[in-house]
Amino acid sequence: MSHLIAPSILASDFANLQRDIEMINNSNADWFHIDVMDGVFVPNISFGMPVVEAINRHAKKPLDVHLMIVDPDRYLKTFADLGAAVITVHYEACTHLHRTIQAIKQLGCKAGVALNPHTPVHLLNDVVADLDLVLIMSVNPGFGGQKFIENTYSKLSEIKDLIRSKNANCLIEVDGGVGISNIKKLVDHGANVLVAGNAVFSADNPLNMIDELKK
Ligand code: DX5
Ligand code: ZN
Repeated sequence: MSHLIAPSILASDFANLQRDIEMINNSNADWFHIDVMDGVFVPNISFGMPVVEAINRHAKKPLDVHLMIVDPDRYLKTFADLGAAVITVHYEACTHLHRTIQAIKQLGCKAGVALNPHTPVHLLNDVVADLDLVLIMSVNPGFGGQKFIENTYSKLSEIKDLIRSKNANCLIEVDGGVGISNIKKLVDHGANVLVAGNAVFSADNPLNMIDELKK
């Protein structure tokens, strides 16, 4: 499978959201990456349900919803109803992660778990077989435009081995500081889905940038 590109709406122009969504619709990108932040789990507030509803009204590609919120169980059904294809929760935000994963799947969505840069991969030993996606954070979550953390490569190798050893069928996503300079190495280390915020939306020509990232 060739890798997927998921432009992060966080880096789009919110005053021209429909224009930027149409740009992604018309591009070779694969998913919309939607960062929901609550100001508690992460030190920033992004946007909530009304904005996700508006995105879903125009988006013609799957919505990859990344919940950076505490106690995400309270909102799983809401985001499923708003059109999420993938719902990713943070390992660090879930007390009963196994239950949360099952709840996401019962809602008909793909279930993802995100790991912060400090969270070791082996903590997923007992749930990886249930997952559709693991999101390796390559920056500390909360803001776009941060510097990529190099330790991500060794975490990718570890998660790839874990997935193989458990015979699991799950995608590996990388989020934060992804761009032209590191995408090839990330894909070579096993990344299947690459989130790109600033790399896409700050480019002179976002459509060409998406093509470059897809190569
Ligand atoms: C960070 C978010 C990312 C962010 C990526 O907390 O989860 O999805 O939008 O932005 P860039 O690609 O600019 O690092
Ligand atoms: Zn994200």
